[in-house]
Amino acid sequence: MHSIEHKMHHFLPNIFFFLLVTRAFSAWCCLQHEREALLKFKADVNDSSNRLVSWRGNECCKWAGVRCNNKTGHVIMLDLRNSYYEWNNHSLSGEINPSLQNITELEYLDISYNNFSGNNFPRFISSYRNLNYLNLSTTGLSGIIPHHFGNLSKLEYLDLSYMPNIYISNVWFLSHLTSLIYLDMFQVNLEDSREWVQVLNTLPLLQSLYLGSNNLTTISSSITVVNFSSLGILSIQENEFNSRIPNWIGDLTKLTMLELLFCSFVGRVPNQLGNLTKLNKLYLLDYLEGPMPPLLNLNNLTELDITYVDLKEDISRVVSKLANDTLEKIELFWLYGTSLTGNLNGWISKMSNLKVLTLSYNNLNGTIPNAIGNLTSLECLFLDKNYFSGMIYEAHLANLSNLKELNLDSNYITVIVDTNWIPQFQLYFLYVSGCKLGPHFPSWLQNQSLITNIDMSNTEISDIVPNWFWNLPSLTSIDLSNNNMSGRLPLNLEHLTNLNALLLGNNRFEGEIPSLPYVVEYIDMSNNLFSGHLPTYIEAPKLSILVLSNISSMVQ
Ligand SMILES: *[C@@H]1O[C@H](CO)[C@@H](O)[C@H](O)[C@H]1NC(C)=O
Ligand SMILES: *[C@@H]1O[C@H](CO)[C@@H](O)[C@H](O)[C@H]1NC(C)=O
Ligand SMILES: *[C@@H]1O[C@H](CO)[C@@H](O)[C@H](O)[C@H]1NC(C)=O
Ligand SMILES: *[C@@H]1O[C@H](CO)[C@@H](O)[C@H](O)[C@H]1NC(C)=O
Ligand SMILES: *[C@@H]1O[C@H](CO)[C@@H](O)[C@H](O)[C@H]1NC(C)=O
Ligand SMILES: *[C@@H]1O[C@H](CO)[C@@H](O)[C@H](O)[C@H]1NC(C)=O
Ligand SMILES: *[C@@H]1O[C@H](CO)[C@@H](O)[C@H](O)[C@H]1NC(C)=O
Ligand SMILES: *[C@@H]1O[C@H](CO)[C@@H](O)[C@H](O)[C@H]1NC(C)=O
Ligand SMILES: *[C@@H]1O[C@H](CO)[C@@H](O)[C@H](O)[C@H]1NC(C)=O
Ligand SMILES: *[C@@H]1O[C@H](CO)[C@@H](O)[C@H](O)[C@H]1NC(C)=O
Ligand SMILES: *[C@@H]1O[C@H](CO)[C@@H](O)[C@H](O)[C@H]1NC(C)=O
Ligand SMILES: *[C@@H]1O[C@H](CO)[C@@H](O)[C@H](O)[C@H]1NC(C)=O
Repeated sequence: MHSIEHKMHHFLPNIFFFLLVTRAFSAWCCLQHEREALLKFKADVNDSSNRLVSWRGNECCKWAGVRCNNKTGHVIMLDLRNSYYEWNNHSLSGEINPSLQNITELEYLDISYNNFSGNNFPRFISSYRNLNYLNLSTTGLSGIIPHHFGNLSKLEYLDLSYMPNIYISNVWFLSHLTSLIYLDMFQVNLEDSREWVQVLNTLPLLQSLYLGSNNLTTISSSITVVNFSSLGILSIQENEFNSRIPNWIGDLTKLTMLELLFCSFVGRVPNQLGNLTKLNKLYLLDYLEGPMPPLLNLNNLTELDITYVDLKEDISRVVSKLANDTLEKIELFWLYGTSLTGNLNGWISKMSNLKVLTLSYNNLNGTIPNAIGNLTSLECLFLDKNYFSGMIYEAHLANLSNLKELNLDSNYITVIVDTNWIPQFQLYFLYVSGCKLGPHFPSWLQNQSLITNIDMSNTEISDIVPNWFWNLPSLTSIDLSNNNMSGRLPLNLEHLTNLNALLLGNNRFEGEIPSLPYVVEYIDMSNNLFSGHLPTYIEAPKLSILVLSNISSMVQ
């Protein structure tokens, strides 16, 4: 039946009859030569997880990942993206048969997350004149992209990311891809092109541009007319420009997301950022100089991440460069290693929507104001490596019911909570090394059943570690070292199936060394009062560091 229909399709002169027939058979007609091309492709592919099991019989338009135009019957879509979580187990691999070239009307091709390493970039892709969407991300292809690729003038979405063995030696063909809306070339080797800015500046419709690890060392500062002004997303990572952030960045006034990470930019953070009024997310990570430019017109900012920029300012001054309305909306405020001074007083209460507050590695001091307890959306609070002092009471923490990660590491903070306190939050990470928690072991940890990482080293705890502690089910890393903790460990810790680090050095633990979890990698039990026998047999194949020095009365 299908082949009859197929012949009619080609030979019937009567246009009305033609329409009638194709309508009637529309959804399941499959052109024979296209079916054959697909079968040739399948034959050369190693499909160990049987993803192409439906690729048999005549109705190729119904095969997994295949879609046809319901009027012409041509295959227009081939979606073989491997979206399995354990993607390695579901990869297609082997050879890409060039028969695919015969599927001439293809509009959509996605073979991402498969393993076609060993294949060169398929040259025939350049012949798909109607191609609109091409996703080759993470496919292991290698070689050069032919300049014929510039024929794909209808291409709107091009994802070549995570293909470190692909290179483009002359970027100019990209300027022929005049329909491009989305371009991701993360890890594509652009061979130190000096003209990539000029080339991309010829793409007036481009909205999203992702670059990263492209072996680029030049970013032109001199483009006079900015044509790629549709850009909403600009992400450039891991290139070595060693130059200032170019001024034209301020002309990209439609940007909603700007991400410049590890690009070896030098000089000051440009004032032009203040003109990017639509910015929603701003991420800057580089060894730039301050001060922070005024950002008073960035009224839609919700994420601000500044890392390693040497701002050298008082944090309240940085905050005053954002409008009060904006402060209320910001969800992520991340100033990491930015040479800030000052304290949290005053401004913190304006940032009522904060989910992530990271001020790690600065020179902040003063006490933690009660107002922090009003930030009820907080999920991550990182104040580590500063000079904060004073007390944290239950009132600071009682309403933070969404808190998941708390890092107060290396400050001069004392935490004082009632022994009966039951927090509303469920933490995953608790880092309080160097703070004063003792003398009692914090009983509020007892209900923290999701907690994976605990660093309570150096916290002035002089107490017996309660048995419930060793039954917290999710523990992966425990550091209780440099305290005055005592008591016996349970004889068996094998139930902590995720525990990979157990650091108990410099305490007064006694009794026998317990049997250890299988996945453990790092153990320090030194300077304690353990006794009895060393375990004669430890089944812990990943164990790489084991410190047992100065354990008194140990029998060999
Ligand atoms: C196909 O993949 C499986 C699993 O990765 C492998 O064992 C097998 O040798 C492969 N077959 C071919 C023909 O490459
Ligand atoms: C044909 O496909 C188009 C686009 O996918 C769809 O809108 C239309 O309903 C389909 N027609 C038939 C008859 O299936
Ligand atoms: C996936 O592959 C890994 C080895 O690469 C293997 O350990 C694992 O069991 C596999 N998972 C499944 C569901 O086949
Ligand atoms: C394309 O199809 C034609 C027949 O229609 C066939 O002769 C040719 O070998 C095919 N090309 C490839 C690359 O398979
Ligand atoms: C390409 O596929 C990957 C997943 O395989 C996906 O993450 C990415 O967003 C896709 N790119 C585009 C432009 O849709
Ligand atoms: C891809 O396949 C090649 C062999 O064809 C193999 O060496 C390589 O490890 C595979 N890569 C991944 C990520 O599975
Ligand atoms: C490109 O850069 C990567 C790392 O960024 C490096 O490993 C590779 O050798 C470079 N290739 C060339 C051709 O410079
Ligand atoms: C911001 O834009 C205004 C008007 O477009 C312009 O006059 C001003 O020079 C720009 N500021 C910066 C720092 O680029
Ligand atoms: C602000 O950003 C949101 C996305 O977070 C967007 O939906 C909204 O349109 C933006 N508003 C303006 C005025 O740009
Ligand atoms: C924010 O509000 C305070 C008063 O609470 C005011 O002194 C300050 O000037 C305002 N900041 C801006 C940038 O408007
Ligand atoms: C905070 O540090 C500044 C110097 O940066 C100092 O003048 C001030 O006294 C300190 N404040 C507190 C409360 O330690
Ligand atoms: C917390 O918020 C409440 C209600 O907005 C306000 O009355 C109170 O003063 C705030 N507490 C602090 C310490 O800012």
